[in-house]
Amino acid sequence: MPAVVILGAQWGDEGKGKATDQLGSSLDYCVRTSGGNNAGHTIVVNGEKFATHLLPSGILTPGCVSVIANGVVVDPGALFREVDGMNERGVDTSRLVVSSNAHLITSYHTTMDKVTERFLGKNQIGTTGRGIGPAYADKINRTGIRVADLLDEKILRDKVEASLDLKNHILAKVYNRRAITVEEVVEDLLSYVDRLRPMIADTSLLLNRALDDGRTVLFEGAQATMLDVDHGTYPFVTSSNPVAGGACTGSGVGPTRIDRVIGVVKAYTTRVGAGPFPTELFDADGEKLWEVGGEVGVSTGRNRRCGWYDAVVARYAARINGLTEFCLTKLDVLGSWERIPVCVGYQIDGVRHDEMPMTQSEFHHAEPIYEFFDGWQTDISGARTFDELPKNARAYVQALEEMSGAPFWAVGVGPGREQTVVLR
Ligand code: IMP
Repeated sequence: MPAVVILGAQWGDEGKGKATDQLGSSLDYCVRTSGGNNAGHTIVVNGEKFATHLLPSGILTPGCVSVIANGVVVDPGALFREVDGMNERGVDTSRLVVSSNAHLITSYHTTMDKVTERFLGKNQIGTTGRGIGPAYADKINRTGIRVADLLDEKILRDKVEASLDLKNHILAKVYNRRAITVEEVVEDLLSYVDRLRPMIADTSLLLNRALDDGRTVLFEGAQATMLDVDHGTYPFVTSSNPVAGGACTGSGVGPTRIDRVIGVVKAYTTRVGAGPFPTELFDADGEKLWEVGGEVGVSTGRNRRCGWYDAVVARYAARINGLTEFCLTKLDVLGSWERIPVCVGYQIDGVRHDEMPMTQSEFHHAEPIYEFFDGWQTDISGARTFDELPKNARAYVQALEEMSGAPFWAVGVGPGREQTVVLR
């Protein structure tokens, strides 16, 4: 099973790190293909909790080569803070590789991200403020700075100058902020070159050769399907393509080489930041999901909005990504409810929709249609096989599988590596 994509099937924070971990020791390469340090994966290894942001979670698997591929936007300061943090805890980061074509996040991108959000007022996206959108905007505008540019100081200076010129006009004239000098940006970027140089590689070549040699390569998604700039709840999305197709464009590995596409889906739903969320709860149930699920953002510490499982979203993710299977996470969190609602369709302006509506306006009006399942009201965190789950938990999982559009591969029953029930 050499090439596997793992991605988020909802609005992020589904527990992708745990699903990644499940492939564990068989992993030779672990690749990030989109997003940047806006991501946050929590991984518990031998009872010790680790959080990764920009680093692929394979960094915690001994012997695994961790790859930051071309589709990622890299804030070098954030990268080395994370590397240093890992090293301090005894994690070996010597196998980290960074694509020469990945774009850089500079101080002007993070500044632009924050001032733009403030300017948007009530229309703000609720970004992580990490400069993700402005860095991708520069990439598409063809005014981005790439990792390889760091290797040629003259080119770097020219590119920063060209990119900064218009931004300084905007910063000073629209946002009334201090202009940023070319020198301060160049100096900051050059301060990372010596550490970065040995990590820089043609990662497309590296990964294709690894696949030729029969190595196992995991493409690890960040963010999620509903945050995809093309297929998510635009404009309340991130600025990249976290869907399965993004794993190919973001790495230079063709779609015919991918063997499995695993969608990670929580047994309920959460979302951080603004935007529509049909099954969102504003009552005691929502508060309980938040509390029991520990639903606080790994990257920004923001509280996640919580709601019930949405099978329309799951079916949509199965379709958009061509999922071969799902990994269901955090089933244990639902252990104290007597009755568990699941959204099976939407009522929109008097019409029933079983699939994602065509327009965002319709999605904003979507009222969930619920089916109710009996809870199991017991701790399931010790279950290791499907048969060890209580009858009602099995029925809940089977019902979700039937309505979600792809087979369930594994079910998470707790945060630990071993707390997983593998179904097939
Ligand atoms: P940005 O990616 O910082 O531009 O933020 C855009 C939207 O994506 C905001 O609603 C963020 O909260 C959301 N977002 C970005 N990264 C993540 C993530 O890793 N998990 C969940 N939401 C995220």
